[in-house]
Amino acid sequence: MDVKIPAMLDPHVHLRGMDWSHKATFASETAAALAGGYWAVFDMPNTPPSTINPTALQRKLDEFGEQAVCDWGVYYGASMSENWRIYDAVADQTCGLKIYNNQTTGVLLIEDQAVRAQHYAAWPSHKIIAVHAEGETVRDILALVRQHGKRTHFCHISTAEEIRYLTDAKEEGLPVTLGVCPHHLYLTEDDVATLGPLGMMKPELKSKADQAALWAALEAGIVDIVESDHAPHTLEEKFSGKPTYGVPGLETTLPLLALAVHEGRLNTAHMIDLIAENPRRIWGLNAPPETYTIVDMDARYTITRDNLHTKCGWSPFEGMEVYGRVKSVVIRGQQVFDGEKVLAQPGSGHNLYG
Ligand code: DOR
Ligand code: ZN
Repeated sequence: MDVKIPAMLDPHVHLRGMDWSHKATFASETAAALAGGYWAVFDMPNTPPSTINPTALQRKLDEFGEQAVCDWGVYYGASMSENWRIYDAVADQTCGLKIYNNQTTGVLLIEDQAVRAQHYAAWPSHKIIAVHAEGETVRDILALVRQHGKRTHFCHISTAEEIRYLTDAKEEGLPVTLGVCPHHLYLTEDDVATLGPLGMMKPELKSKADQAALWAALEAGIVDIVESDHAPHTLEEKFSGKPTYGVPGLETTLPLLALAVHEGRLNTAHMIDLIAENPRRIWGLNAPPETYTIVDMDARYTITRDNLHTKCGWSPFEGMEVYGRVKSVVIRGQQVFDGEKVLAQPGSGHNLYG
């Protein structure tokens, strides 16, 4: 059965570009986004250069603008350099602020609660704050949300403990949302034995009990969105002996959720909420007219690296049988992906915050 999904949005991707163009480019990864069915993606700030000052922001906006084939937005990054002093001047050029509160790729870690509080106080209330917070750190951030009342999205939640904290926070009425990633839904720490470096990302793969808690929260409607955390690294880097953290996901998120629909864990309307309606609502965006994806929910196939558009050319889900083939993506009335090829010209994607 063909299903029409209006304007799919992935608000959590790392498309690289600039000084990391050997890993991936805004051209290659926005093409991967279209192949995955997405209308738009929001890029994280942990790039070299980090998106933490107006010069780096402008460089990213320029390069994105020249290359993008889907619509897009970029995050500003909180840093230890007191860059909160000019938030008012830059915020409206971005989809939100990202604060890294636990260790990951890049140099943007903020562990000092007083510094986090400065960023929370300075970021304008009408824009969202997205946080990387794991375990107990979730509670540290919830304290800031309680104090400053700023809308906060908790990225890639991966444990039963974190789900408990956020379920309580929602009951308390705090302005919080949360996302989970397909790799935490479909893989566990047991898979690292076979996947090796291809199963390494931050947050790491967790236990079967944690995985079950994520599915239960998803089914209960506590999880607001599914975000890919698309983070391509080259195979050479992955197998370098000093593995880099991150996995690609833009082209496998929809098929893995379609698999969940076939397994009876979700219904199609709920799937659409998780990857289109809820992300657009949380980031305050309307679907542009005539913007949708057609997916054949019954097409069954095996994920292989040959038919991926991402420049990294691999997936942690290779060999998995999934459902859901993207047949067409249309943006503002123009077909931009026909099920095989990207038809849009570089630079045709719109900056949603331009
Ligand atoms: O595994 C990850 N990779 N987690 C992150 O938070 C960052 C990402 C990357 O940029 O490689
Ligand atoms: Zn990320």
